[in-house]
Amino acid sequence: MDSTEVNKGMAAILVAGIAYFLAGWISATLVHETKPEHEVLKIEGAAPAEASAEPAKAEPLPLIAPLLAKADVATGESNVKKLCVSCHTFTEGGKAGVGPNLYGVVGAGRGHMEGFNYSAAIKGKAGNWTYEELNAWLAKPAAFAPGTRMTFAGIKSADQRADVIAYLRTLSKTPVPLP
Ligand code: HEC
Repeated sequence: MDSTEVNKGMAAILVAGIAYFLAGWISATLVHETKPEHEVLKIEGAAPAEASAEPAKAEPLPLIAPLLAKADVATGESNVKKLCVSCHTFTEGGKAGVGPNLYGVVGAGRGHMEGFNYSAAIKGKAGNWTYEELNAWLAKPAAFAPGTRMTFAGIKSADQRADVIAYLRTLSKTPVPLP
């Protein structure tokens, strides 16, 4: 094989490459030119923007009771270690941190820890921590008790809340029966 043959071969490859590139570029350009029209149509036909922003608020919170039956205590405990221990202790007689100790909180009255300086939001909310109220509280503390000092956004997943609540339930000598 002499060098002109090599050069011819190289030139052929180069030409093929350029042709391939151009074809790709042209079709890409054409596709780009037609795409926006379709997208504009789709956006016009799509549901109004509020529809996607609202559902979390509009939908009532699903009941936690059916989820508690299949909740996983160990997963709940590991989530509590990730999400709550920066502010809460969970052992019997544990000290308050930023938030109160949470041993025995399931079924207890609001503001259940002696001597903890609860906000008016919690003190003013009558009743006990039932499963469903813990569910609502943990989904969005600020919505359940506006003005609360628990600066925690909430747990979005209902399954995760069920796991956490199932774990909280175990922190008692006489756990409240499951609903
Ligand atoms: C940033 C700190 C912080 C985090 C994180 C936090 N909490 Fe709290 N929590 C508080 C504070 C502060 C209060 C007291 C609220 C008040 O007085 O308004 C509280 C109160 C509570 C109460 C009510 C206790 C009672 O005696 O009435 C429960 C139940 C609770 N938290 C559960 C949890 C769980 C479960 C998690 C994790 C998923 C969590 N909290 C994460 C700070 C926190």
